[in-house]
Amino acid sequence: MTGVTAIPRHVAIVMDGNGRWAQRRGLRRTDGHAAGEQALFDTVQGALDIGLEWLTVFAFSTENWRRPVDEVRFLMGFNESLLLRRREELNERGVRVRFIGRRRGRVPARLRRRIEETEALTARNRGMTLTFAFNYGGRAELADAARAVARRVAAGELDPEKVDERVLARHLYAPDMPDPDLLVRTSGEYRISNFLLWQLAYAELCFTDVLWPDFRREHLFEAIDEFQRRERRFGAIET
Ligand code: IPE
Ligand code: IPE
Ligand code: MG
Repeated sequence: MTGVTAIPRHVAIVMDGNGRWAQRRGLRRTDGHAAGEQALFDTVQGALDIGLEWLTVFAFSTENWRRPVDEVRFLMGFNESLLLRRREELNERGVRVRFIGRRRGRVPARLRRRIEETEALTARNRGMTLTFAFNYGGRAELADAARAVARRVAAGELDPEKVDERVLARHLYAPDMPDPDLLVRTSGEYRISNFLLWQLAYAELCFTDVLWPDFRREHLFEAIDEFQRRERRFGAIET
């Protein structure tokens, strides 16, 4: 038998197109972000229904600070309120919620507290792990990992000759997270935008024109169907 038939273990999504969705309706960009909540929760339910183990969503990048202050402020408040409103429901569904990204610096203290509370509330859940990449950049993550490794070398705890892929991977934000098998990006953009640079090395990429607020579980299932028709080789040849 050829081809992949199993569902992916880990799906990562770049939730893009909120601004354009809103602009097409004569709404504010921030209305598009708000409309993305329904897309996210429908997708989460679909993922739970099919027994996905890991779902990671890109919610705010280290480059998104370049946006107008009003939009950034909205996104901080929106994410805080989303956690407050939705964490009990996620907890009841057995979802373990986690965050990857830089927590310090510009992330408001209130949002940071909600993140920590939500992680603590759901830490023991054994259903799907839903990871929010927030104030996340792939390059920042690799720089942070390199700094952590350098510190251990400087402290004499680690032989520099022993620094290899496994050592670096152990210093990423979520060292226990398996690499994504499938990356989905919405809104017809064909780029990674600094998402999970290390972890996406062998992910299958799937792009759709659907704008994020219109995304529903059916779109996730379509992407997974496409994934199942791909042939993954990981640099080897078919035998
Ligand atoms: C994605 O939608 C959400 C974030 C980046 C926070 P956008 O806000 O990037 O929407 P477009 O790409 O401008 O349409
Ligand atoms: C990527 O989308 C980041 C998130 C979805 C959070 P962007 O809209 O920021 O990416 P670019 O700027 O189009 O590359
Ligand atoms: Mg965008």
